[in-house]
Amino acid sequence: MKLIIAISGASGASLALKFIKYIPKTIEKHIVVSDSAKVVLEKEEGLFQYDNEDISAPISSGSFRADAMIILPCSINTLSKISVGIADNLITRSASVMIKEKKKLILGVREMPLSSIILENMLKLSQNNCIIAPPIIGYYSNPKTIDDLEKFLIGKYFDMIGIDHNLFKRWGT
Ligand SMILES: Cc1cc2nc3c(=O)[nH]c(=O)nc-3n(C[C@H](O)[C@H](O)[C@H](O)COP(=O)(O)O)c2cc1C
Repeated sequence: MKLIIAISGASGASLALKFIKYIPKTIEKHIVVSDSAKVVLEKEEGLFQYDNEDISAPISSGSFRADAMIILPCSINTLSKISVGIADNLITRSASVMIKEKKKLILGVREMPLSSIILENMLKLSQNNCIIAPPIIGYYSNPKTIDDLEKFLIGKYFDMIGIDHNLFKRWGT
């Protein structure tokens, strides 16, 4: 599987770093980080593969044939650009390619509260086959630590992508 992982400048970039850590070695990872995310990572926590300004990187083309892309965390700036078809950097361009190729695109939108503008943009993207999946914690997993909470979230994202894991105990098991 070819998986694109994009980190935009919302809070919680450390969640993306842990997400990357748990991805099985059998999955081909392609990582791109926005300039704002670098600022956030500096403030909150580096690992970059592609330059977000490099719109000629392989993942910017439909011929790359990525299986899935996740933007985690996804800033409102990036969400809004994608919702109107703006493709001005590698993250937004790759996202627009995933949409046109009808491939899986997961947006871990991190903001609250949500304005009507944001909700409208989310609805439009959801109607275009994107998965809107904010990192919302689940109390039923009985988390004791932030690590437990993050493993639960990463497990939920892995389920969406189709990556097997043992990151949390499933309900009813
Ligand atoms: C420390 C820090 C935390 C931020 N947290 C968020 C956030 O949680 N959600 C969000 O939408 N924007 C957040 N922002 C603002 C974005 O970084 C800003 O809108 C930026 O333009 C996003 O650019 P990008 O989408 O290209 O990454 C934060 C900025 C900083 C410096």
